[in-house]
Amino acid sequence: MSAKIIQVVPKSRGLISCSFHSLVAAVLVAVFMVSAFYTTREKNLPVKYHPEPAKDAGESANYQMATENKTASDGHREEEKSGGGSISGCDLFSGKWVFDNKSFPMYKEQDCSFIDDGIACEKFGRKDLKYQHWRWQPRDCDLPRFNATAMLERLRGKRLVFTGDSLNWNQWVSMVCLVQSQIPPALKSMHINGSLMTFVANEYNATIDFYWAPLLVESNSDDLFHHRIPDRIIRAQAIEKHARHWTDADILVFNSYLWWRRPTLKVLWGSFEIPDGIYKDVEMLRSYEMALRTWSDWLDIHINRAKTKLFFMSMSPTHDRADDWGMPASQNCNNETEPISKQGYWGIDSDPRMMRLVEASIDELKTRGLKVQLLNITQISEYRKDAHPSIHRMQWGSKEEMSNPIRYADCTHWCLPGVPDVWNTLLYTYIFHD
Ligand SMILES: *[C@@H]1O[C@H](CO)[C@@H](O)[C@H](O)[C@H]1NC(C)=O
Ligand SMILES: *[C@@H]1O[C@H](CO)[C@@H](O)[C@H](O)[C@H]1NC(C)=O
Ligand SMILES: *[C@@H]1O[C@H](CO)[C@@H](O)[C@H](O)[C@H]1NC(C)=O
Ligand SMILES: *[C@@H]1O[C@H](CO)[C@@H](O)[C@H](O)[C@H]1NC(C)=O
Ligand SMILES: *[C@@H]1O[C@H](CO)[C@@H](O)[C@H](O)[C@H]1NC(C)=O
Ligand SMILES: *[C@@H]1O[C@H](CO)[C@@H](O)[C@H](O)[C@H]1NC(C)=O
Ligand SMILES: *[C@@H]1O[C@H](CO)[C@@H](O)[C@H](O)[C@H]1NC(C)=O
Repeated sequence: MSAKIIQVVPKSRGLISCSFHSLVAAVLVAVFMVSAFYTTREKNLPVKYHPEPAKDAGESANYQMATENKTASDGHREEEKSGGGSISGCDLFSGKWVFDNKSFPMYKEQDCSFIDDGIACEKFGRKDLKYQHWRWQPRDCDLPRFNATAMLERLRGKRLVFTGDSLNWNQWVSMVCLVQSQIPPALKSMHINGSLMTFVANEYNATIDFYWAPLLVESNSDDLFHHRIPDRIIRAQAIEKHARHWTDADILVFNSYLWWRRPTLKVLWGSFEIPDGIYKDVEMLRSYEMALRTWSDWLDIHINRAKTKLFFMSMSPTHDRADDWGMPASQNCNNETEPISKQGYWGIDSDPRMMRLVEASIDELKTRGLKVQLLNITQISEYRKDAHPSIHRMQWGSKEEMSNPIRYADCTHWCLPGVPDVWNTLLYTYIFHD
């Protein structure tokens, strides 16, 4: 770990200074954890997934519908297709990436000081900037353009909270960047308190938070600063330590995926503080299911249905294995400059079984009168092998990692501006739809 990070890691908890420097440091460590984990992941775990080819051969005919200028926010009829994903009869998650250097990117990297060094690809030497210029074009309609003023108006006197792992953090940074250009420096602030990072737009009394809870439930990886722990332990029944920080939010955006990716996790019955707890190795899918059950039960009992809108981001795909898209297995996302064009491309590291568990939890919550919208960004993002930081980021790993940056390229997180801006445009569309 670099001296820089050690130096700024706070010794005591509580409110850390508002300097962006410490914020950056916090997140660097967070980001690093996922990357580090990924280098030791289990290669045999995922099942290769072959999505069915599109049933609809008349793709071009469907694209023509987009020229009718229907936008996803038109109309109020919501067709509840199985699994959701449909607004006004348009599936926002089926479509393609279109090169569009007129309207993208939506902001410049250098204009958003909140972009962490782990995802500031241009700053760290990326020369090919094509990755910033792709627009997601749903097949049957157009996405509305993200309007920062409208978003801030919508959040007036409200609190939007992203909670989950560093991919969710990546999306939170994107959201802050998307809105912050509209706000003069004196009228915005950023601070960290424990696992909570808070951006405030003073004039609007609008808060956009990120809360670190990589496994949703309590775990031994909950410390934003010190979570590089090889043996993962979760308290599958305990979420209140985290949930009390976000239960009152007006809009809640969850995710949790990458930290689960090992064959088994240790589940603790008891507490971390008291030594006589019972530990048991539990198969990953089973422990994920247990955690989702705890999460659902918490929401059912504690969420104010009249107030809080709930979203769950599906898994963010990684591009660590170039053989997935026909390149030598020794390569990864490094040097990739174009999206994957093969329709329905699905990488081996995206586990559809986990997605189904999330869907099942959401369906079950629906029967209890609680609506959680799944934003199915996995397929969309699968195509974007070109959009990860790879080696264009701050290097802060071990000696071994520093000496071999290409091998340890970050093919997990996303450069900003980039793919998470599109996720947020989808979120924006859903927020404005109801
Ligand atoms: C749709 O938009 C195009 C340009 O974007 C315009 O030329 C066309 O007239 C519009 N069609 C309708 C039906 O509004
Ligand atoms: C999400 O998208 C994937 C791939 O397009 C699909 O297989 C899955 O059924 C979708 N899930 C939902 C809930 O829509
Ligand atoms: C946008 O892309 C087109 C085609 O690649 C290129 O000809 C044009 O110069 C680009 N415009 C800008 C502003 O980068
Ligand atoms: C953005 O939203 C604001 C507030 O709703 C509105 O006044 C403005 O016209 C919108 N801008 C665009 C370009 O649509
Ligand atoms: C600011 O927003 C919070 C919710 O985030 C609310 O509780 C508070 O009353 C608001 N304050 C003012 C002055 O509107
Ligand atoms: C930090 O968060 C704790 C709750 O976790 C709260 O009690 C405390 O007041 C917060 N500190 C500041 C300065 O906001
Ligand atoms: C990949 O990129 C590195 C620098 O980022 C460069 O030195 C190398 O030649 C590239 N390799 C290929 C095969 O393009």
